[in-house]
Amino acid sequence: MDQCLIVCICFFFIYSSVLGKILDKQPDFVKTCLITKPRDEFINCSTHAVQILFNEIPKGNKDIELQVLDPLKVSVVKILQGGGGPVTVNASLTDVTILGFGNTKILFNSVDPETYDFYTKLHLPKLRIDGNYELLGRILLIPLRGKGTCWFDARDLNINVKSDVILEQRNGFHFFNVTKVHVKFSIDGLKLHMGNLFEGIKALEDSTNAYLNANWKPVAESLNPILSRTIEDIMIDILQKVFDNIPADFFLGDIIKNNKDREMKQKNN
Ligand SMILES: *[C@@H]1O[C@H](CO)[C@@H](O)[C@H](O)[C@H]1NC(C)=O
Ligand SMILES: *[C@@H]1O[C@H](CO)[C@@H](O)[C@H](O)[C@H]1NC(C)=O
Ligand SMILES: *[C@@H]1O[C@H](CO)[C@@H](O)[C@H](O)[C@H]1NC(C)=O
Repeated sequence: MDQCLIVCICFFFIYSSVLGKILDKQPDFVKTCLITKPRDEFINCSTHAVQILFNEIPKGNKDIELQVLDPLKVSVVKILQGGGGPVTVNASLTDVTILGFGNTKILFNSVDPETYDFYTKLHLPKLRIDGNYELLGRILLIPLRGKGTCWFDARDLNINVKSDVILEQRNGFHFFNVTKVHVKFSIDGLKLHMGNLFEGIKALEDSTNAYLNANWKPVAESLNPILSRTIEDIMIDILQKVFDNIPADFFLGDIIKNNKDREMKQKNN
């Protein structure tokens, strides 16, 4: 098991680790739920609340220094995966445009009342990625080499996200510090094109693209770890921008009560 996967993502906008401004007034797109309510009621409320949040944030938000997410512009994605799996690639994507986050449907959201970790299920009807690629490696055992433009068109993505959260206090508010996200996802269709494969041997380029499209399922499966990591890196950046700057108290109206309940429970155990 010497699989090693490195994904490195640079956005156009992150050149500072400076936090945006804390929103000390609750914005319209943040709806408050009560975590001490019965579980079903809370999950229904928080699923709706996260949907309202996701209807708004893809437009971008200057107050919290959140860039536009649809289209999302990423300057560089670098991927290095060695080891003996079906994929061995050394690849980079530059000038990347990702379309589709604006149509995110939230199927489920819950917050763990003990740890405050988030569990979220999302559905994206379409996700389209355009960019310039440079690739050397193997996918499905086919050796690939190329440099040019590419696009990927994925249909019906179901994404399960667990976000590790630490509840913190500063500036008189609670905040969710999202420290890690774990992504699992599946897709129901994939079309792709890599231009200038094999540096312009057109017949080989066409037959390889045709083969990869005809075998999109195993291609998607073999790229799953790479894509999961890429989605994780994009999501943690978005979630940190949102939750570093918008107090947790606007999302959960009863954090103090919940913490007291938690302490009581711990004492009784
Ligand atoms: C779920 O939440 C929505 C919006 O807050 C509300 O309209 C609906 O009545 C709730 N459904 C249940 C079963 O509680
Ligand atoms: C990956 O590609 C880059 C750029 O072509 C190169 O500098 C690097 O050495 C390669 N790494 C491996 C492990 O092949
Ligand atoms: C979040 O927690 C990590 C780990 O404890 C810490 O290094 C980081 O500074 C925290 N971030 C914020 C914005 O408080």
